[in-house]
Amino acid sequence: MRALIVGNSDGIGLALTHRLLAEGWQVTGLSRRAAPVGEPVVVDVTSAGFPEALAGVGAVDLCVYAAGVGELLGGDDFAAQTRALEVNLLGAARTVEAVVPGMLAAGRGHVIGLSSLADAMISADAPGYAASKAGLTSYLLGLDAALRPRGVAVTAVRFGFVDTKMAKSPVTPFKISPERAVDVLMRCVRTRPAVVSYPRRMAAVTGTLGPLLRTAARLRRSR
Ligand SMILES: NC(=O)c1ccc[n+]([C@@H]2O[C@H](COP(=O)([O-])OP(=O)(O)OC[C@H]3O[C@@H](n4cnc5c(N)ncnc54)[C@H](OP(=O)(O)O)[C@@H]3O)[C@@H](O)[C@H]2O)c1
Repeated sequence: MRALIVGNSDGIGLALTHRLLAEGWQVTGLSRRAAPVGEPVVVDVTSAGFPEALAGVGAVDLCVYAAGVGELLGGDDFAAQTRALEVNLLGAARTVEAVVPGMLAAGRGHVIGLSSLADAMISADAPGYAASKAGLTSYLLGLDAALRPRGVAVTAVRFGFVDTKMAKSPVTPFKISPERAVDVLMRCVRTRPAVVSYPRRMAAVTGTLGPLLRTAARLRRSR
């Protein structure tokens, strides 16, 4: 079986690459820096060369979009917020564009996108990150509804905090290890659900907080 992982030089993507290789998969990884394992290709998902790099990968059974960035909003500089949208959302859309037609032609395949429980939040700290994940979850769920009848499953994985360089917040409740995150992803590979939210306790907290934060934002605007 062949897998493509976009964003596997570090974090969850790297841990998943190790696990898939150990289970006998052939793995090609596309990342900003070369992954230390598998068949690495160095490319920035926001660059003009990304579609070409994707085209060079060929047919795969599984595609996991694990590339992501999440910078805090700093003063009046919005470039990092734009970048979060480009990497987390548009990079995923470009990956789908390149990979899914081959899966549809074969009548089978599985796309997994690493979204986040932040998809339900309005964030004053990282608005670009939250917006990118809201868009990504919505896109993946819509694709799944459209493509599953044609044999291609699409899974949105909504993690809480995972212990990687991305989890910079000083408070990280219910944080899980990258290995635990990979356990969840491997279960997705086997069962192909439309959406997974993990850990459930964190999902319950953000499910409650999301509407509260939206109300607070509305109240602030109306003052
Ligand atoms: N960690 C968490 O708490 C958490 C929670 C929920 C969801 N997630 C999501 O899970 C995914 C993986 O995150 P992680 O925690 O594993 O983060 P990570 O350790 O920072 O890994 C992110 C990966 O994406 C790559 N990447 C970033 N920008 C790129 C670009 N422009 N072009 C190509 N590759 C790029 C990184 O390459 P470099 O090594 O060069 O930076 C790295 O391989 C992200 O989408 C993230 O939003 C993470």
